[in-house]
Amino acid sequence: MPTLVVVGAQWGDEAKGKLVDVLGSQADMVVRFAGGNNAGHTVITGGKTYKFQLIPAGILHPGTVAIIGSGMVVCPKGLLEELARTLEQKKDLGTLQISSAAHVVFPYHRMLDALEEEARGENKIGTTSRGIGPAYQDKVARFGIRMGEFVQPELFKMRLKEVLAYKNRLLQMFGSPTLEFDALFDEYSGYADQLRPYVVDTEVMVQEAVEANKKVLFEGAQGTFLDLDSGTYPYVTSSHPVSGGACLGTGVGPRALQSVLGVCKAYTTRVGSGPFPTELDDEIGQFIRDKGQEYGTVTGRGRRCGWLDLVVLKQASRLNSLSGLVVTRLDVLSGIEKVKIATSYDYEGGQIDHIPANVWDFAKVKPHYEEMEGWDGDLQKCRSLSDLPESARRYLDYIEEQTKTPVAIVSIGPDRKETIVVRPDLIWG
Ligand code: GDP
Ligand code: IMO
Ligand code: MG
Repeated sequence: MPTLVVVGAQWGDEAKGKLVDVLGSQADMVVRFAGGNNAGHTVITGGKTYKFQLIPAGILHPGTVAIIGSGMVVCPKGLLEELARTLEQKKDLGTLQISSAAHVVFPYHRMLDALEEEARGENKIGTTSRGIGPAYQDKVARFGIRMGEFVQPELFKMRLKEVLAYKNRLLQMFGSPTLEFDALFDEYSGYADQLRPYVVDTEVMVQEAVEANKKVLFEGAQGTFLDLDSGTYPYVTSSHPVSGGACLGTGVGPRALQSVLGVCKAYTTRVGSGPFPTELDDEIGQFIRDKGQEYGTVTGRGRRCGWLDLVVLKQASRLNSLSGLVVTRLDVLSGIEKVKIATSYDYEGGQIDHIPANVWDFAKVKPHYEEMEGWDGDLQKCRSLSDLPESARRYLDYIEEQTKTPVAIVSIGPDRKETIVVRPDLIWG
C-alpha cells in the first residue's frame, strides 16, 4: 500500500509544503487532513513562489487529485481567493475536491477568536486570528455547518438560522456587534455557488484510491506540538496535526497508513505563545531569524528561533510512529562556529528526556546541550550527502543516532531541486 503521511515534527513551518510539492510529483492523490487557513505552506519552483493555506500543496502537479479533507475547517472566501491566485500563477493544476464533511469558517468565528484571545489576557495563545479555534469548537459542540450543508441552499438557510441566533447571543454577551442574517446568508450563498462543483464525499475517493494501491499522500499542517492532545496545551491549535489525524481527517483506518515522514528544521522555531526551552534571545537567534527569513507566512510575525531540540524530536518520533525524518533548512545554520543540540532537560534536580504533559512544568525545564562543530559555505549547491561539509554530516548522524529515526531527506534550500533524498525506500513504505 504506497501511502505516505507528512507531518510537522516541531511547532509548524518546518517546510511541509516544500516536501509535499517535491513528493507530490509521485502521488496520485494528495489529501490534507487538518487545520484551516492558519497554515501557510510555501512552495518555490520555476522562479515562482506559491503560498498555500487551504489547498494541498500537491495541486501543482496536473495529474494529482488534491483533496481538502474532512478534518479541515474552510474559510470559503479565503479558499476562493487562494484558488484564483494560484490559477493566475499556473493554469494546469491538479483536480481540487472538497470533503462534504469539512466544516465552514464564518465571520463570527473570527470575531470570537479575537474576543477569546482578549479574555485570556496574559495567557493569550497568539492565534493566527483566522477563527480556527471557534470553528473547531462548533464542530465539537454540534453547531458546525459542514461543506455538504453549505452548498445546499435550503439546508444552509436552516442551519445558519439556528446557529446564528445562538452566536449573536454569545456576541452580545461580549458586548460585541452582532451579525445580520440576510447579509451573511446572501454573501455566503455567493461563495457556496462557486464552491459547489468541488464538494463531494471525498472519504470514498480516498478509500478507493488506497484499495486500488494508488499513491496517496496525506498532507499535514501545523506541527506535532501544536496538537490539541499531544501538544503544549493550551498553547496549541484546535485540531490534530499528528499522524493519527490523517485517519480522522480523511476517512481511512490506521492500517491504510504506510510510511510517516516527520519534517523538522535543523533548528527550532515557534510562532505565538508557549514554552520553548531552546529559544535564543541573543545574536544567534537573530542571525537565524534574518538568514532564514523566519517571518510567518500567514501573519508576518517574527518567528521565535532556537537550537534544535532532540527531546522534541524523540517524542515526535514516538507520537507519530515516524518512519523517517526530513531535516530542512540545514543551509541556514551555515556560518555558525559552534552549534548546540538539546539532548535532555534538567527538571527539578533530575534529568528527563520527555516533554512534561503539564505545560506549566514544561515551562520550568532547562535544556542540557551537546555542542558540535558548525559548518560554513553555501549548502544550497549540494546535491548529495557527500557534497555536504563533514561537520554538517556529523550533525545529521547525531540526530539519527539520538532519535533512533533515520534521516530520509535533507533540504538545503527552498527550491524543489534543493533536496537530497537519502533513503528513497522510506518514502512510500
Ligand atoms: P510549512 O508551513 O511547514 O509548509 O513551512 P512554511 O512554508 O511556512 O515555511 C518554510 C519556509 O522555508 C518557506 O519559506 C520555504 O520556502 C522555506 N524553505 C523550505 N525548505 C528550505 C530549506 O531547506 N532551506 C531554506 N533556506 N529555506 C527553506
Ligand atoms: P503551518 O501548517 C506555525 C500556531 C499559532 C498559535 C497556535 C494557535 O504553516 O505549519 P490557531 O490560529 O491555530 O488557533 O493558533 O498555533 N499555528 C501555527 N504555527 N505554523 C502553522 O501552520 C500554524 N498554525 C497555527 O501561531 O501559536
Ligand atoms: Mg507554514
